[in-house]
Amino acid sequence: MFDLKNKFDYYLRSAAKFSRKNYSEDLNLTKEVNGYAFDILSQTLRLEHQKDLKVLDIGSKNWEYARGEYKFFRQYCENLVLDGVEIDAYRLYSNFYSRYEYAKFYIKDLAGVNYYPDDLLNIKGRYDYIIWILPFVTKYPLKRWGLPEKFFMPEKLLEHAYSLLKKDMLIINQGEEEAEVQEQLFKKLKIPYKTLGEIKSKELEYRNRRFGFLVSRAVTAV
Ligand SMILES: C[S@@+](CC[C@H](N)C(=O)[O-])C[C@H]1O[C@@H](n2cnc3c(N)ncnc32)[C@H](O)[C@@H]1O
Repeated sequence: MFDLKNKFDYYLRSAAKFSRKNYSEDLNLTKEVNGYAFDILSQTLRLEHQKDLKVLDIGSKNWEYARGEYKFFRQYCENLVLDGVEIDAYRLYSNFYSRYEYAKFYIKDLAGVNYYPDDLLNIKGRYDYIIWILPFVTKYPLKRWGLPEKFFMPEKLLEHAYSLLKKDMLIINQGEEEAEVQEQLFKKLKIPYKTLGEIKSKELEYRNRRFGFLVSRAVTAV
C-alpha cells in the first residue's frame, strides 16, 4: 500500500516539477542546524589547507545545513565547490515551495555551491570529501520518507559514492540498528572504514542517537 502511494506521489511531483519560479523568502537561516553541521565536521575531519576543494553532500533534502558545511570547508581552501544532490527535490511544503526552492534560499549567497535535483547514481567526477547524513540503509525509513521502494539500494549507492571519493567520506546514521546495518554494508562491499562511535553536538540534540563512520581512501580494511 505504502509503495503504491509513494510511487504515484513521487511520479506526480517529479513529472510536474512544480515551481513558484523563485526561492522561498519566508524562511530563516537556522543557526542550530548549521552550527550542528559545522560542529560534527570539526569533530570528525582533519584537513590540510589547499587551494581547491571539491565536496559532495548526498541526500541534501532542502539543504538547510549547507551554510555550516560551507563555513567548515572554506576554512581550508581558496576555491570551494560544494555540491548537494537530492533525488526528491520537488517535494512540496505546505506553502507550495519545493525543497529545491528552499535550497535555493539556503545557498543563495554562497559561491561555488550547487544543488542538483538528481539521483546520486547520476553524479560523476571525483570529490575530495563526501558528507552523507542519514542514508537509507533499511527499507522502512525510506518508505516513511515517501520514496518508492525501487530507490532502496543501499549497496549500489554506497559503492557509487565510494567510486567518487578521493579522500574522506563522513557517514552519519540514526540509531544503533542503522549503524549496525551500515557496518555490515562496509564489510560486504569490502570498503575500509573507521567507527567514530556516537556523534553528539552541543549545538543541537537530536531525539535519536547518531553514530558516525569515516570512510577514507587511506584507511586499511577492518
Ligand atoms: C533521511 S534523509 C536525510 C536528509 C538530510 N541529509 C538531513 O540530514 O536532513 C535522506 C535523503 O536522501 C535522499 N535520497 C535517497 N536516495 C537518494 C539518491 N539515490 N540520490 C540522492 N538523494 C537520495 C532522500 O530523498 C532524502 O532527502
